[in-house]
Amino acid sequence: DSIKVFAPATVANVVCGYDVLGFAVNAPGDEVVMHRVEKSGITIKKITGDDGRLPLDAAKNTVSASVKHYLNHIGQPDLGIEIELHKKMPIGSGLGSSSASTVAGLFAINNLLDNPLTPMELVPFAMKGEELACGYGHADNVAPALLGGFVLIRSYEPLDIIRLPHPEGLYCAIVFPEVDVPTRDARQMIRQKVFLKDAVTQWGNIAGLVSGLFLKDIDLIGRSMKDILVEPVRSILIPDFYKMREMAMESGAVSFGISGSGPSVFAFTKTEANASFITQKIASHLTSLGISSKTYVSPI
Ligand code: HSE
Repeated sequence: DSIKVFAPATVANVVCGYDVLGFAVNAPGDEVVMHRVEKSGITIKKITGDDGRLPLDAAKNTVSASVKHYLNHIGQPDLGIEIELHKKMPIGSGLGSSSASTVAGLFAINNLLDNPLTPMELVPFAMKGEELACGYGHADNVAPALLGGFVLIRSYEPLDIIRLPHPEGLYCAIVFPEVDVPTRDARQMIRQKVFLKDAVTQWGNIAGLVSGLFLKDIDLIGRSMKDILVEPVRSILIPDFYKMREMAMESGAVSFGISGSGPSVFAFTKTEANASFITQKIASHLTSLGISSKTYVSPI
């Protein structure tokens, strides 16, 4: 028995919704090939596309570790599994790289066992992978990767995840400036206390964004995507962040911000052509600074 599964990159936070909002894109993403074998236990057979950065040790790799939690849960802890992980997206990019691998692995094992759990029920196991990757089991990458589309994590304890609608014809332009920003570090730099007046601004924007998604009001979505809590701190890790925003907004973007913990940035646009134009413009700017980048355009 073998299966090959692709899981997509995701944009977490969606600017104002730190740890509570995320959405999936069509590409890039990761691929897991999983085989059932006689010999009991989980083995990572090979990893490609990671430049040797990810652990082959099954206890340390987020894919095998989350599959192990899953197998323990369903009462088959000794099942023999071999995993191949093909990284097809950059690591440490803020595009949910660990999440894509983990989700592909969980979807694969669940499918090999005839889907005893629903995608929603797989979320807590995928969160275990995130905990291993960055120290905290946030769900705003894994939930959209598993469920597709836009997702709200209304509560972590207990876990309460809601799929949100979104307007047709919205595109996402993504630029990954190739500098490394580990999520673990990008989480540690955020202030733990906020002023009430800042919290009021922030939750107004989150509610505005969610309302905009339901009302299919792209202008409301755009004016709500502002973050006064996290972005001002994290933007310093991203080369020329405010210049990139200016370029995107001047070129007709609906909104612009950091994807997940960065350094990737993303813009919403109303056409695919506009998304391509913006990624090219920002990528050329980064090249002029001596920074290489990768770009992606996807419908949402
Ligand atoms: N919500 C997480 C964070 C996403 O911002 O740290 C990480 O991709």
